[in-house]
Amino acid sequence: MHMKLAVLVSGSGSNLQSIIDHVEAGHINAEIAVVFSNKEDAYGLTRASSHGIPTAVIRHTEYSDREQFDAAMVQVLKDHGADTIALAGFMRMLTPVFLNAFPMRVINIHPALLPSFPGTHGQRDAADFGVRLAGCTVHFVDEKMDHGPVIIQAATPVAPGVDGDTLAGQILRLEHRIYPQALAWLADGRISLDGRHVHIAGAEEPVCDTDGVGPFLVNPPLEKAFAS
Ligand code: GAR
Repeated sequence: MHMKLAVLVSGSGSNLQSIIDHVEAGHINAEIAVVFSNKEDAYGLTRASSHGIPTAVIRHTEYSDREQFDAAMVQVLKDHGADTIALAGFMRMLTPVFLNAFPMRVINIHPALLPSFPGTHGQRDAADFGVRLAGCTVHFVDEKMDHGPVIIQAATPVAPGVDGDTLAGQILRLEHRIYPQALAWLADGRISLDGRHVHIAGAEEPVCDTDGVGPFLVNPPLEKAFAS
């Protein structure tokens, strides 16, 4: 049976676009039942409409507390038949009212290697900290911000002195690859959980050589004497 996906956006929706493209290409065993936003001018809604995907908007500012807003969202998403929720640049925290309606079926993408740099400016925070590796994380959503079990992460080297916006673009291109991959695994029922640990049935394991060294990303690159 097809996974019935709701994608929640607050802005541009470039991750949404990547998900749409992979669904249309038949790479994810799902249909996008609805694209939802808390902002009526979110460009993600335009992207959805141009692919014939239903949209819905509820402004969070019209609700006095998070629980009431969450209950209204649950109603709309269930009305569209959604069984799985992908947050794609959705900038609202979710309460148990929402999470209990879709147990272990809410996932998020965050533009940092969690648990480093949670919050709304992960890329800028990483650039300002001076990290040499940055990246992004797809994870299950729980009640704490950017906290639930990790499904997949991608890392990228950070050039010295790079600003947050440049790094954000670099990370975004990785986001567009790992989010559809995670959703494909979810749609195929290949993901299971053991506490915080996510198991993906049939996923390749990194291969270590005889010295026990697996593939790795190091930045700046090691010079010759240290490279083997
Ligand atoms: C993405 O970089 C996503 O990881 C980030 O918002 C951007 C949305 O871009 N999400 C968060 O920071 C959540 N904490 P998009 O609208 O073009 O997909």
